[in-house]
Amino acid sequence: MKIAMLGSGFIARFYAESLHAQRRTDRIITVYSRSLENAKRFADDYKLQHHTDSMTQAINLAEVDVVLIALPNHLHESAVVECAKAKKHVICTKPLGRNAKEAKRMLDMVEEAGIFGGYLEDLCYTPKFLKSLENIKQGSIGRVLWAKSRETHPGPHSDWFWDKEKSGGGAIIDLGCHCVEISRNFIGKNVKPLEVMCWADTQVHPIDAEDHAIGLVKYANGAIGQFEVSWAFRGGMDLRDEVMGTEGTIWVNSFLRTGFEMFTTGKGDGYVAEKAEVNKGWLFPVGDESHELGYPHMFTDMFTAIEENREAQETFYDGYVVNAILDAAYKSAETKLWEPVILEDWRGDDVDSSKKDFASYDDEYYLIKEEILPNGDIKLILKHKISGEVIQKTTT
Ligand SMILES: NC(=O)c1ccc[n+]([C@@H]2O[C@H](COP(=O)([O-])OP(=O)(O)OC[C@H]3O[C@@H](n4cnc5c(N)ncnc54)[C@H](O)[C@@H]3O)[C@@H](O)[C@H]2O)c1
Repeated sequence: MKIAMLGSGFIARFYAESLHAQRRTDRIITVYSRSLENAKRFADDYKLQHHTDSMTQAINLAEVDVVLIALPNHLHESAVVECAKAKKHVICTKPLGRNAKEAKRMLDMVEEAGIFGGYLEDLCYTPKFLKSLENIKQGSIGRVLWAKSRETHPGPHSDWFWDKEKSGGGAIIDLGCHCVEISRNFIGKNVKPLEVMCWADTQVHPIDAEDHAIGLVKYANGAIGQFEVSWAFRGGMDLRDEVMGTEGTIWVNSFLRTGFEMFTTGKGDGYVAEKAEVNKGWLFPVGDESHELGYPHMFTDMFTAIEENREAQETFYDGYVVNAILDAAYKSAETKLWEPVILEDWRGDDVDSSKKDFASYDDEYYLIKEEILPNGDIKLILKHKISGEVIQKTTT
């Protein structure tokens, strides 16, 4: 694939490191940046043939197969407009829009133009996430009941994130988009998100948006998604997921305390990991950040999907659903009520797919619980199927 990179900032560099690593054949061939100087610096660093301060020129370069949007949130839509006009495939960083209306317009544009629209939700491509999802799909943890995802760090690195108009909000839109899509994958993308209850506050920073929030997302099958986000967390970037199912549990720690710990008196001054706050003392470095954050698997899926003329695992439609859930979260934080997720375009299961299959002990009783006691006895808690009476039975 020949890629036009829009933006030359933090995530553009992360993407470039992943795309040009490990002898991959996909290549960024041009970069657009507002400042020609930044575009040139980026082009020099990654040995690109072309750079420009014109977004239109970058997108319309004849050899470009796919445009990668790595611009601040308020510029995603205008970039998609240009890609649709030029009929160039587009992949866009998260969040897709600042709200569901904006995301829906982007979705409609790519569908009407007949171009590919991939949503760069990298945390749904980390090796640990992919393995967890595979296990869940195989039934290893049974029916998913609760999927919690947490992303917290000390706050983002550029001015525009802190400006609500440009970013669309605070920690909820910036980090909650990851958490919501992680939980949604674990619960099942075909399961409709119904309503959201969210607490949000600005606890530390002098900004209009929230720097800390916790939310619950109720799904049509009875499962609950939970997101925990903060721009006020100290100690690095905490990325953790917990999934609870009827037959098992998954705990994933993606970034801190993953088994790689290092102590240094600070003699070197090397980079440790994204949002690591210190580089001496006990540290939690990350071996291959790109891989741990999912970028290589994400780009492989995106480009293979384009070649195979299929949808990627994460699409503009997914980005739109995430935005709709986050809109409800923002509303709930204001009203302090459960707020409905408004999805004018829902493509999953319509029915309430919640079905509770209770385990039978025998024809008469359901099995509530079985436990081995310290003395070796087995204790059973049973419920009569008709009378509802709960009894216990001990076998020695
Ligand atoms: N894990 C992830 O997927 C991840 C991580 C970080 C950022 N992001 C997303 O990437 C996007 C960019 O974030 P970033 O961290 O790279 O930000 P950044 O500030 O580091 O870089 C933004 C780039 O856009 C340019 N830019 C800023 N304002 C502009 C304007 N008005 N017109 C044209 N160009 C402008 C900047 O010069 C810079 O090149 C955001 O949507 C953000 O949410 C995703």
